[in-house]
Amino acid sequence: MDRTMKAMLYDRYGPPDVVRVGDVPVPEPVGAQVLVKMSATSINLTDWEGLTGSPAYARIGGIRRPAKKTLGSDISGVVEAVGPEVQEFTVGDAVYGDNLARMGGFAEYAVASERVLASKPPGLTHVEASTIPQAGAIALQGMVRAADGKRVLINGAGGGSGAFAIQLAKRAGAYVTAVDNGGKLDFMNSLGADEVVDYTKNDFVTSTEPHDLILDLVATRSPLACKRALAPGGVYRCVGGPARVLLGMAIGGLILGRLSDRSIGVLGVKMGPTHFAGMAELCSGKEIAIHVDRVFDLADVAEALAYVGAGKARGKVVVTSG
Ligand SMILES: NC(=O)c1ccc[n+]([C@@H]2O[C@H](COP(=O)([O-])OP(=O)(O)OC[C@H]3O[C@@H](n4cnc5c(N)ncnc54)[C@H](OP(=O)(O)O)[C@@H]3O)[C@@H](O)[C@H]2O)c1
Repeated sequence: MDRTMKAMLYDRYGPPDVVRVGDVPVPEPVGAQVLVKMSATSINLTDWEGLTGSPAYARIGGIRRPAKKTLGSDISGVVEAVGPEVQEFTVGDAVYGDNLARMGGFAEYAVASERVLASKPPGLTHVEASTIPQAGAIALQGMVRAADGKRVLINGAGGGSGAFAIQLAKRAGAYVTAVDNGGKLDFMNSLGADEVVDYTKNDFVTSTEPHDLILDLVATRSPLACKRALAPGGVYRCVGGPARVLLGMAIGGLILGRLSDRSIGVLGVKMGPTHFAGMAELCSGKEIAIHVDRVFDLADVAEALAYVGAGKARGKVVVTSG
């Protein structure tokens, strides 16, 4: 008889209460897949997008109904079983990674391709390690141009990626303006932000001096507005937001940037261990701090998602199992 596990399931897009606990078979790893006994899964905005089915790209693979029944991509746990082609890991290894293609982290077990996983740094707990893969990769790539004396703005800076990005920009010697809702201003100041803006009250385009680098984690503006927020030679990159805004940025931003001595576009974030390992090293060496706002039990995933969706999370929210 199949072994069963608890998993947080949903079969339609909607608010957090569409998520329910269910008993399902423990998945079997095939090929180069690893079965991970979950310890911790951190919540990313991509989980919220997958839950609500918005923006439109969150419905890729399942236009009317979610294709994946269990959310949760940034996982950390212990290898329980391996597929016949797995080379890197053996049973008992502590691993973590971003399982974005398969999800499934809000469960007692999840299968992941071994190529998305890395060995968990021994100095980090599973809760800490689970905060790094997606947010760390975004922050590292988004802040690659941050440098001494540069003016850097991070929009959506009070969440998971933003908390890492603020610290990276400060380490690089930049002057950092951090934008998020009013409840996160103190938090962003505590991470080193020189200037903070409440997006519910002020528009950073009109209320701040031009910037050399803008990382927009939640893009809502036109390429023209972004151009106005950039100094000559400045670079704007967004990573998330409504599909029409991202499309406008990719096409209109490219043209406008070329005409105005600025670079405006979408950052296609590369995911995987080689792209988040640098952040794990910085966190293990205590050079970058991990900020976990709250930890929820697996059974309370709906509450955890609602907490994130209500705009309350400062840094990361993590769900633990077992
Ligand atoms: N390009 C890629 O390959 C790729 C891959 C993975 C993820 N992503 C994207 O990367 C982003 C990373 O997000 P994350 O996980 O760090 O999210 P997060 O932890 O949820 O943080 C996002 C922050 O932005 C704030 N925010 C919401 N609307 C805003 C607005 N209009 N102006 C300013 N701030 C606003 C949120 O605050 P509230 O609480 O007020 O809403 C929250 O604090 C997401 O957009 C995701 O879709 C991109």
